[in-house]
Amino acid sequence: MTFRKVPPGPRRLQSWLPLLAVALLAACSGPFPQSTLIPKGDFATMVDEVFMTTVKWAAVVFILVEGALLYAIWKFRGRPGDAEPEQTHGNAVVEVVWTIIPAAILAFIAVPTVRTIFRTSEIPAGAMEVEVIGHQWWWEFRYPEQKIVTANEMVVAAGRPVVVKIRTADVLHAYWVPQFAAKRDAFPQKYTTFYFTTDSLGAFTGQCAEFCGVQHGRMGSLVIVKPPAEFDQWVATQQVGSPLVDRGVVAVDTTTPADPAAAQAKAERDSVIARGQRAFMAGGCIGCHAMAGTPTAGLTGLAGPNLSHVGSRMRLAAGILTNTPENLALWLKDPQAIKQGSLMHLPRPLTDDEISALVAYLRAHQ
Ligand code: CUA
Repeated sequence: MTFRKVPPGPRRLQSWLPLLAVALLAACSGPFPQSTLIPKGDFATMVDEVFMTTVKWAAVVFILVEGALLYAIWKFRGRPGDAEPEQTHGNAVVEVVWTIIPAAILAFIAVPTVRTIFRTSEIPAGAMEVEVIGHQWWWEFRYPEQKIVTANEMVVAAGRPVVVKIRTADVLHAYWVPQFAAKRDAFPQKYTTFYFTTDSLGAFTGQCAEFCGVQHGRMGSLVIVKPPAEFDQWVATQQVGSPLVDRGVVAVDTTTPADPAAAQAKAERDSVIARGQRAFMAGGCIGCHAMAGTPTAGLTGLAGPNLSHVGSRMRLAAGILTNTPENLALWLKDPQAIKQGSLMHLPRPLTDDEISALVAYLRAHQ
């Protein structure tokens, strides 16, 4: 077989140019949920200031150097019949000048950079601690003071400083929420830390930033910033059935409300919980997940996320799916179809009855 080499003619390039332009411009359309250029907290703002300082100096250097270059090209351009230009070798004055100028520019950049490195290493007194543990492929968040364990969604209070301590339970990961702080690697035997304070309410996405296996690209997380009062309420809810509070034991309410409608609602809820709990045990979920009301309620360090409040989370499977009943059912039916390689393996396929019982049960765990 022979191949004929076809050089890309100007026609061909021209036909590709509009497409290239569209592709380039599409990158400018936003929104930019993970842009470090839109800082949302004090740490990220300080880093952004250093970045912008550097960019401004670089722009000045670029304009001066390129300007001088273009001027020289134009001014000293060759003309037909020109004699050989004068040849020079070495010029001590010029060499000293072009060594001193970059050194001075570097000094101008170094001062704010080093100052920011020190400022971002000072953890504010009274900061709330959150331990971040990387797993293949999800994030665990533990709040030692509040005695809470949750997964994939770090909830914090606006205006209150947070210190994040990061480690991994398996391979190396890196925790990164671009709008709050620089990325930090997750090591097995030591903590890496950073802190941030933010006044921006809402949910902000983060991404694992160290290649950690087949689902590295789908190891997302959220930082959810609530007003302080709402945050305190969230803490109180999450403490009920937390493995760090009374080993997850929750008092079971065996009373029957006097009001018939309330009594029926409670009976229905109890039946959902009972059916779901049976499916949770029989389906093998209990092998990897801590769950209030089951024998694993008080355990930490299991292979999968704590599910005692899974119904209150925004997303499923480390940010891949919105937490809706339909998506939860899809996930339970075939987790490997959604997240191939995930450690979520079902010992046997769940029946449709089990899936619907589990969906109701898990959604009831708000
Ligand atoms: Cu975890 Cu990449």
